[in-house]
Amino acid sequence: MSNTKYGDKGWTPDRIQDVSGKTYVITGTTSGTGYETAKILLAKGAKVVMLNRNPQKAEATLATLKQEIDGKIDASNIVMDLSALSSVRNAAAQVLEEVPQIDALVCNAAIAQVPRQVMTVDGFESQLGVNHYGNFLLQALLFPRIEESKGRIVTVGSMGYNLGIKTIQFDDMNWDNNYNPNSVYSQSKLAQMMSVYELQDRLSEAGKSAVKVYACHPGASRTALIKTNGSLLMRFIWQLMKLTPLVQSAEKGAYPALMCATEPHLDQSKFYGPTGRNYWTGPVGECKLEPHAKDKAVMQRLWDLSVEQTSAKWNI
Ligand SMILES: NC(=O)c1ccc[n+]([C@@H]2O[C@H](COP(=O)([O-])OP(=O)(O)OC[C@H]3O[C@@H](n4cnc5c(N)ncnc54)[C@H](OP(=O)(O)O)[C@@H]3O)[C@@H](O)[C@H]2O)c1
Repeated sequence: MSNTKYGDKGWTPDRIQDVSGKTYVITGTTSGTGYETAKILLAKGAKVVMLNRNPQKAEATLATLKQEIDGKIDASNIVMDLSALSSVRNAAAQVLEEVPQIDALVCNAAIAQVPRQVMTVDGFESQLGVNHYGNFLLQALLFPRIEESKGRIVTVGSMGYNLGIKTIQFDDMNWDNNYNPNSVYSQSKLAQMMSVYELQDRLSEAGKSAVKVYACHPGASRTALIKTNGSLLMRFIWQLMKLTPLVQSAEKGAYPALMCATEPHLDQSKFYGPTGRNYWTGPVGECKLEPHAKDKAVMQRLWDLSVEQTSAKWNI
């Protein structure tokens, strides 16, 4: 029997209705699930605005997309480095100037398994700074346009939210005393996901229902994530694992974000991703969400801290 409401194969992009005339803003499309998300939406006729840190890579990505998709595509790149709040502000300003409609902002870009503590220019530990603070500020800055468009915010989280300390280490956010690549990544993904559920609560309290906010994860997918970061040992283990059926294609890893960006009537309170063993692969649907991801006291404290650290002004 199927374990998702979308049949044995789970949710697939076949369900995407007409997206011509729709605009998707996607972070981190130069590889992995972000690339596949952009490719599928473009192939279905949507407009895609990519936010990437490396202009050369972004140009190469645009060229590859043009080659791989049969037909004309409407895609462009705006340079944004999530590790610098000033870059996020500049990119958001450019988006607001050039992009009149945002049907969904897909916060996909992230780094993982940074072996030693590295600080961003703003003084944040890099995984927290890029994955959480950068995306948090971007969402706040683009929120008015998303609201006007009755659009969505989609955060690509990780099953890593359920590893590590399973909460936020408020007394040492930069992990000066106990840096550990896995725990720090896990905390950054938990922070991203907590912000989704806290934003939902804040929108609901404000009586604002136009914007929908979703959390999903790509399972274990064959991407560049640990190829470009990670310790030597971690990279070696991951390269071996990628050869096994325990890990799925980057394309399949994109399905949960595509689902959250396009599927009508999706319950925002849930967490979406592959539903197979350990939620690593398998048909895409609803995944179990552990209660610590919705620990209200932690969510509220994290939100206030994130506003303070990024000077984000949410128009809620
Ligand atoms: N792959 C998995 O098994 C897995 C599992 C759980 C969760 N995830 C999540 O899935 C999402 C996509 O990751 P992926 O696996 O597709 O990895 P990926 O292939 O490494 O792609 C990551 C993307 O993020 C971009 N990026 C990194 N740092 C950035 C920054 N400072 N500013 C702007 N863009 C930046 C990268 O750009 P560059 O090309 O310039 O580096 C790249 O385009 C992430 O949120 C990740 O946490 C992945």
